[in-house]
Amino acid sequence: MGNELFARYFALVAPRAEERGQADLRRELLDGLTGRVVEIGPGSGLNFRHYPATVDGVIAVEPQPYLRAKAVEAAASASVPIQVVDGTAEHVPVPDGDADALVVSGVLCSVPDPATALAEFRRVLRPGGVLRFYEHVRADGGFGRRQDLVDGLWTRLNGGCHANRDTLAAIEDAGYDVQNARRLVFPPTARVSVVAPRVIGSATP
Ligand SMILES: C[S@@+](CC[C@H](N)C(=O)[O-])C[C@H]1O[C@@H](n2cnc3c(N)ncnc32)[C@H](O)[C@@H]1O
Repeated sequence: MGNELFARYFALVAPRAEERGQADLRRELLDGLTGRVVEIGPGSGLNFRHYPATVDGVIAVEPQPYLRAKAVEAAASASVPIQVVDGTAEHVPVPDGDADALVVSGVLCSVPDPATALAEFRRVLRPGGVLRFYEHVRADGGFGRRQDLVDGLWTRLNGGCHANRDTLAAIEDAGYDVQNARRLVFPPTARVSVVAPRVIGSATP
């Protein structure tokens, strides 16, 4: 999401989903986390207010300058210490094995190469550390084929986001053990949105 126009659009519209159930999903994503957390691609920081008090601190790595500035604002009112830094999923500015947990939401759809990013996340996680993910994904069956059809145009219009990635398979292929993964549709009433099929869960390298 290097494109500032799309970043501004995202920052404007993304909060609308929070009251429609997205905030609950963010709480589920972060529930029970402890210690030192790294969040990749926080955007405008919509996860920040949901970190539990058991988290000692968060390093939030956001490459897009407009969103990074918004994330800095959101960090100021979070209830746990959050440091927002420049960086990418492929080059996380954190030493090897430093994180108890790494969090992504709506990011693995947009990184150029999920396998490279997931390998970098493994480097950053301590042994036994956990990857928490909440991502939109390719659906099975006919809807998945519809996502395939629109993906080229979707990607061009949405800052590099892909509508049809099988992110759960990418996580497993990258050598993670998936502990739990819950498939859902968001918003629950969505019938045509190509980013409605989602998965939320956790995995360890
Ligand atoms: C759809 S937004 C999601 C923002 C936020 N995680 C949320 O849940 O609202 C995608 C985010 O991924 C970030 N992103 C895209 N490519 C990235 C990369 N290669 N490394 C790190 N972040 C990236 C974007 O800058 C943006 O903040």
